[in-house]
Amino acid sequence: MGDQDAGSDGELGLRRQFPKHLLHQKLPAFNSWFYGLLMLCLLVFVVFLAFSDSTLSWSETFSLQRQYQRFFNQSIQVNTPAYLIPPKHRAFLNTMKEKTTPTPEGLQYHEAYPHNYRFVMDNPEVCKVNSPFLVLMVTVAPSNVAARDAIRATWGKDRVVQGETVLTLFVLGLDKRHDVEKLQQENQQHNDLIQSNFLDTYLNLTIKTMVIMDWLATRCPAAAYAMKVDSDMFLNVDNLVIMLKKPGIPQKNYLTGMLMWNRPVIRSKNSKWYVPEEMYPNPQYPTYTLGMGYVFSNDLPTKFVEVSKSIKPFNIEDAYIGMCIKKLGLSPTSPPDPSQFKAYNSKYDRCEFSKIITYILSSSEQLKNYWADYKKPGPHC
Ligand SMILES: *[C@@H]1O[C@H](CO)[C@@H](O)[C@H](O)[C@H]1NC(C)=O
Ligand SMILES: *[C@@H]1O[C@H](CO)[C@@H](O)[C@H](O)[C@H]1NC(C)=O
Repeated sequence: MGDQDAGSDGELGLRRQFPKHLLHQKLPAFNSWFYGLLMLCLLVFVVFLAFSDSTLSWSETFSLQRQYQRFFNQSIQVNTPAYLIPPKHRAFLNTMKEKTTPTPEGLQYHEAYPHNYRFVMDNPEVCKVNSPFLVLMVTVAPSNVAARDAIRATWGKDRVVQGETVLTLFVLGLDKRHDVEKLQQENQQHNDLIQSNFLDTYLNLTIKTMVIMDWLATRCPAAAYAMKVDSDMFLNVDNLVIMLKKPGIPQKNYLTGMLMWNRPVIRSKNSKWYVPEEMYPNPQYPTYTLGMGYVFSNDLPTKFVEVSKSIKPFNIEDAYIGMCIKKLGLSPTSPPDPSQFKAYNSKYDRCEFSKIITYILSSSEQLKNYWADYKKPGPHC
């Protein structure tokens, strides 16, 4: 520790700052006033030194100050005192630290990498019987049986769509209070649950996405296309298969959906999409496809898993896939009709729902109701 040096340097520095002629003032009244002030300054200074000596060196004190400043600038450093970080971010940063390993080049990387986790349920046989044309990988919380049942009863029901085999599977992590037996029963009944042993939380969605990629790469390599889709979606699978069978749609290196260009990284800690600079320093994301539902040729999962080893993870899974595809030297492709990938809908319109591929809904009830109407006989428009 350079406490001593720093202290004496500082003292000398202070003395040097006092102009010489002021120290030799002739006026006695001013003199006593001045020396009083000087003593006070020295006292304050000595107290300050005593504190800094006992705890931190000067350089440490100043770097701490910088850290606090940075903290108040709304960006958390990995080495910011833990009590200053909101609990959920603290947990995420902790997992990052634990899983950070040096690369041979000495760089730090983290594996959002699925091989850090293992499958609790993986249904490896579902792809072997009949290689699917399309696999729909639905992200859902373990406890959300209602969403799974609604999807099983609606767009996830048909095994053959437009003459092609389509497989719908649900991807879960672990829930602190989930009922293992109930999930096993559910899986015995439907054979459609893929569960890995990471904690299923919003901040862990990037892990979930990489687990999806790992499953596709290792358990379903013969499928032609796959889609990552959220459980709160209306999906028009007919239109999706029609789109994928259009002439000119690539069978390799193809990633499509609702494209996001030049999206700024959210630095406001109150946001659901907050990402600290330490996780992702650039102010913008590379072009990516919105996480509600993106579609890809099934050669990509293996490549994503491989390239993810060298990409620092952050908690925005769709932008993370954007990073992966960029690192592969590729980029997302606009769908043939971009208006088919829709996010929020204001109201149900039977005609419109017959033309689109995705829509975000607000509940499983809504999905069942819209579907019931959508499937009624008669023209849609
Ligand atoms: C904090 O923000 C101010 C104003 O934007 C900036 O000048 C300063 O450099 C920032 N400090 C740190 C430590 O990031
Ligand atoms: C993410 O998953 C890991 C592995 O299960 C867990 O230790 C960690 O707490 C989770 N992180 C968050 C932020 O939930």
